[in-house]
Amino acid sequence: MSKKLTFLILSGPTKEYIDPVRYISNESSGKMGLALAGYAVKKGYKVIFISGGVKKYPKRVELVKVTTALEMLKASKFNLQRADIIISVAAVADYRPAKFQKHKIKKSGNSILLKLKKNPDIVKYCGENKSDQVVVGFALETQNLLTNAKLKLKSKKLDLIVANGRDSFGYDKTTVHLMSSDSIIKIENRSKKFIAGKIIDETVRIFENIKSFKKNA
Ligand code: C5P
Repeated sequence: MSKKLTFLILSGPTKEYIDPVRYISNESSGKMGLALAGYAVKKGYKVIFISGGVKKYPKRVELVKVTTALEMLKASKFNLQRADIIISVAAVADYRPAKFQKHKIKKSGNSILLKLKKNPDIVKYCGENKSDQVVVGFALETQNLLTNAKLKLKSKKLDLIVANGRDSFGYDKTTVHLMSSDSIIKIENRSKKFIAGKIIDETVRIFENIKSFKKNA
């Protein structure tokens, strides 16, 4: 019998603290991550689930809770080689405050300046450091969706990218394009649960292709 596949799923938003009570974050609900994990578990796969703060976490997964992008990167590096298929649906904050203020910032003048520092690109790290693994990213774009998604597919060395528009955030139904280097599959106005199933099945198909290509090489 073939080995049980292991998925590493990165999900939810990250929070980047400015001071002990304030942070930068985003609207990610974590619903797609939940749906992906749910389907993978149902299919009998092992799931390592790294999640930023959300309301609900999946059941029957190895759960790693993180807060910041740096913590998510550390947990991803630690678990990367344990996984066959890596999917990042996390809404990682692009920037974090350059300096964390130990004490609550006091109200002062009419404006204050907040210096931000770029966060590392986690799925790009996974793409650049994969062996015979499949790495999948998501791209949420408000313009030039397919062109931008294709650029990300290449620059992050991904095997598959799921391109979706702004209407995907927080909603149960959405439209996506599953893009690989040689194909585009459009899935229109379907539930995140349905789409999650298609994504997981497609990643397993790509994984098996890589394996049989290696075997026959
Ligand atoms: O570049 P952009 O944020 O649009 O790319 C989206 C993809 O990259 C998603 O899969 C997201 O989880 C991942 N990402 C990441 N680390 C970042 C930013 C995005 O892994 N710092």
